[in-house]
Formats: sequence, C-alpha cells, structure tokens
Amino acid sequence: MTAQLIDGKTIALDIRKAITAGVQKRVEQGLRPPGLAVVLVGNDTASGIYVQKKREACEQAGFYAEDHDLSADTTQEELNALVDRLNDDERIDGILVQLPLPEHLNADEVLLRIRPDKDVDGFHPYNVGRLAQRLPELRPCTPAGIIALLDAVGTPYKGQHAVIVGASNIVGRPMAMELLLKGATVTVTHRFTGDLPRFVADADLLIAAAGKPGLVKGEWVKPGSTVIDVGINRTAEGKLIGDVEFDVARERAGWITPVPGGVGPMTIAMLLQNTLYAANKLHE
Ligand code: GUN
Repeated sequence: MTAQLIDGKTIALDIRKAITAGVQKRVEQGLRPPGLAVVLVGNDTASGIYVQKKREACEQAGFYAEDHDLSADTTQEELNALVDRLNDDERIDGILVQLPLPEHLNADEVLLRIRPDKDVDGFHPYNVGRLAQRLPELRPCTPAGIIALLDAVGTPYKGQHAVIVGASNIVGRPMAMELLLKGATVTVTHRFTGDLPRFVADADLLIAAAGKPGLVKGEWVKPGSTVIDVGINRTAEGKLIGDVEFDVARERAGWITPVPGGVGPMTIAMLLQNTLYAANKLHE
C-alpha cells in the first residue's frame, strides 16, 4: 500500500482564502482590519524564517501587521514593557512572541503577561486550561492545524488509538487535549518512554512531534494508519526532513503528511484564524 498524501499547502491556502474574505467583510462593515504584532528577539535563523512567513501571510490576508525585532541582549523588563504596550493597543488583536527566546529571558513570564484574549498562539495558561476543560477558545496553532488536516481526510477519531511522540507545550500536550476532545484514545510518548516502536505499531493515528530527524522508523508504522509529521529538521546537505522515515512509512500508512508542505502551512493558517477570531469575537 502506498499512502495518500495529505496536502497541507492546499488545505491551508483554502483556509487563508476564507480568512481574507472574512477580513474584507469586516472592512466593508467599516471595522478596522485584524491586527497582529509579531515579536522576534535575537537572530536565531530558523525563527527568523518562520516569523517572516507569518508576517507575509498577515499582509496577504489584509491584516494590520506590526513587526517588533528586538536585539539578542533585550532585557526581561524591556520585553515585558513591549507586551504591556501591545496589550493596551486597540489596533492589536493578537500578540505573538516567537519561541525559543534567548536563554537569559523567561518565556513563561512573557507568555503569562500577554492578555489571554490577545494570546493568538494559545500558550497562556488561561487558554491551555480552557482547552483542558473542553472549552477551547484561542487554541495552540499547530495542534489546531493538525485537527483541520485530520478533519479534511475524514478521520473518524472515536475508537482510534492516537499516539503522540513528544510532550512539548507547543505541540504534544495540547495535541493530546485536542484528540481527547475528538474522542480518540490518546497515548503521549516522550524521551523516557521505554519501547517507542511498540506504541507506534499500535497507532491508528500517529503524531510525530519530537524534533528528532528520522526518529520514527517506517517499519514501525501500523499498516493503513494516518501519519502526521510535525518535525522540520534540516540535514547537513540542506534538505528538510521530518521526524518520520518518510519513504518507508509511506509504503505502509494510509495517509501521510509530507515535509515540507504538510503541517507547517497549517500552523500559519491557524494563527491568522485565531487573530480574526479575536478581532470578531473577543474585541469591541
Ligand atoms: N516556535 C515554534 N513554534 C512556535 C509557535 O507556534 N509559536 C511561537 N510563538 N513560537 C514557536
């Protein structure tokens, strides 16, 4: 069996078209466009590329976009003061502080300071708590994007064993809550899990989000399963590869996401969706 590819690029473009139409509708009604502030601290190359993509997507959708590029030696007080200003700025519906921050800065403190109704990354404990209690509002973008992909291919969820590889705050943990909400039976594996191949072999739905190139061997994959690869790793030759050994996994799975062009574009689409939602439902 050769898996069908889940085309995140096309699905994300459709969502972005609907968002652009939603922005136009607001503007025609005399309302201001949704506003997103993207904060980047330091000069991490990968973060710079991600942030650039997010900013371009904002402008294409007709958002008001504000760029805040801060130097690597920015102090906690300076970053906190910027968040306070953006919290009070009525043009701004969403605040995104790109992670990871330089080591001397405390990310938890910054995320806690962002007003929950402007937390379009869905990382504030208020929004994480809402998701945990089955009342999601602003949802973490990557897990929400994965749910949109799974919905697009008609995933049944109920009765399925979903196995998540990686327990990060950004993907693994909120992904578990999203899949529970859908009625799947969820296992989260992590660096201390003893027998990873055993869990992968039992997964009807596999979400690989460890950030370790090729960690999941193709031969472990359950025949006919759905494989979502969140990993974006650059090889020494400059090629982008996921956390799953794609060529072998593709011959066993029923559905699989490519890297690039799978999950990545969906994260950006969900960021725009959260910002439009905040503008329409949470502000004014
Ligand atoms: N770093 C990696 N993924 C993300 C994300 O979705 N949001 C932010 N703010 N930082 C990230």
